[in-house]
Amino acid sequence: MRGNSRGFTDLHSHLVPGVDDGARNLEDVRASLKKMWQAGIRRIVTTPHFDGSLTKEKTLLSSRLAEMDEGWHRLKTFAEEEFPGLEVHRGQEIMLDIPDPDLSDPRLRLAGTTYVLVEWPGLQVPPSTGPVLERIGAGGVRPIIAHPERYRGLDREGYMAGEWRERGALLQVNHGSLVGRYGDLPRRRALMFLERGWVDLLASDFHGRPHLSPGLTEARQAMAGWGGGGQFGLLADVNPKRILRGEDPLPVQELAIKSGVWDRIRGAFQSRERR
Ligand SMILES: [Fe+2]
Repeated sequence: MRGNSRGFTDLHSHLVPGVDDGARNLEDVRASLKKMWQAGIRRIVTTPHFDGSLTKEKTLLSSRLAEMDEGWHRLKTFAEEEFPGLEVHRGQEIMLDIPDPDLSDPRLRLAGTTYVLVEWPGLQVPPSTGPVLERIGAGGVRPIIAHPERYRGLDREGYMAGEWRERGALLQVNHGSLVGRYGDLPRRRALMFLERGWVDLLASDFHGRPHLSPGLTEARQAMAGWGGGGQFGLLADVNPKRILRGEDPLPVQELAIKSGVWDRIRGAFQSRERR
């Protein structure tokens, strides 16, 4: 498989074999990279889960990073041999189980840039999120919040995610959220974020198992149906590529979703709430 400079760039996935709940072995990797290639993805930063608290314990940090190094080397070698047109870079998805992780090691950031993918622990928003994000930013690293649409404890309309942006964070929505893969509320919030122009990136969060898929093709179709083809290009191609080069993402125009589409989404949501 030969690639070129075109194609989508995906900054969130779990493809390093055997280190988290993503790909288990190179067979999973092979099937996953094939699916990503078929969806048009040509650049990947793969982001295994990493507990922020480990960064404060020297011995634990070096043993977890050694495990990551070994898995990363296997993935990189395999991808170069089997998918020579695909660029694969290294990152982590840092779980903020402590408020002040040490992110100085470039292996903890996205492809060695000053951007870091972070998530709140247990898919639950903890207290005092703003100061945590500001502190990370003050350390010279820009946090990208993974799937803000998915957290419990976020206000229903998701306005807290706007405060995260005001504190300097970027927002990365999952492709699958746009097509209801995680349920009605994450979908509704993802659409509201798009309507407000708050989404900086779309990514797969693909967990590299045979029964899963990156979701990019479905999200692309949905966005085209909402008149958001231009925004999709920015969110899945231009902006992730900019991050990879260490450049800030471009602003994304508010998506104007037709009221008929909203009526259907609201109707489905309310009928489920009543059950
Ligand atoms: Fe993830």
